[in-house]
Amino acid sequence: MRKACVIGWPVAHSRSPLIHNFWIEKYGVADALYERLAVEPDKLADTIARLNELGYVGANVTVPHKEAAFALLTRHDALAKRLRAVNTIVTTDEGLEGRNTDGYGFIANLKSGAPGWNAAAAPVVMIGAGGAARAIAVSLEEEGAPELRIVNRTRARAEALVTEIGLADAHIYEWDELPRALDGAGLLVNTTTRGMKSENDLSLDLSPLAKQAVVTDIVYTPLETGLLRDAKAAGFTVVDGLGMLLHQAVPGFEAWFGTRPEVTDELRAHVLGDMGARE
Ligand code: ATR
Repeated sequence: MRKACVIGWPVAHSRSPLIHNFWIEKYGVADALYERLAVEPDKLADTIARLNELGYVGANVTVPHKEAAFALLTRHDALAKRLRAVNTIVTTDEGLEGRNTDGYGFIANLKSGAPGWNAAAAPVVMIGAGGAARAIAVSLEEEGAPELRIVNRTRARAEALVTEIGLADAHIYEWDELPRALDGAGLLVNTTTRGMKSENDLSLDLSPLAKQAVVTDIVYTPLETGLLRDAKAAGFTVVDGLGMLLHQAVPGFEAWFGTRPEVTDELRAHVLGDMGARE
């Protein structure tokens, strides 16, 4: 039996089993299974040390364990090292390796939802400076974004993000400077939780954005946040956040089960069905 799991606390909310078990069935991976593993913080070290012994070839790591898992592992890929956070654990010939596929998921989702988008063409605006924002900022820099404009409610957190991950071309804007930050930008990404509840929607004047700009949100409940609804109405290309969740799962599945899976409409519908949502 080849098993993988998602490690979190709590973990019942995780949609990763839905994604990986869909692919296991679709690609006919024999004797494979993906499980939820609820692990309390004080049991994380023991669980990771015994991951293979417990029957797992690898795992995803979710809230609140991403940073602790980084510290517990001795091998990491480049992005995990830079972010000091791990969302995927893989068994290699040298032992367990911590990886971070969040940035890959973000970029793959953008490329699939907005094929015409060119990172190098114009500045990028990112709202938020939390854990997800870190992976996104690095991935945008690696993709060739010429300038990253960061706007966060708490400025000090944006400053910490820039220094801790060492971003070269980042500028921090105050919340009330948003119109200036948006001026001529080719991508606007919301990495905050604003929009998860409709009364908390981000309501922005998007007119300063470049005409061809893409607007994306990492919130996917609801699938169409207020920000995306406004952007669509204003004629911008919009990319919802569900695809990031689906795409970040691809490298882990390939490493554990040996098949590179595809993110398809069928998978999206499967996950949306579980969320009680439809397109
Ligand atoms: P994650 O790790 O999932 O990104 P997080 O670290 O809690 O989550 O980050 C949440 C982000 O949403 C932060 O940028 C936070 O802003 P602060 O740094 O000022 O806390 C932002 N955020 C959450 N609620 C917000 C609100 N009501 N208005 C503006 N920003 C908000």
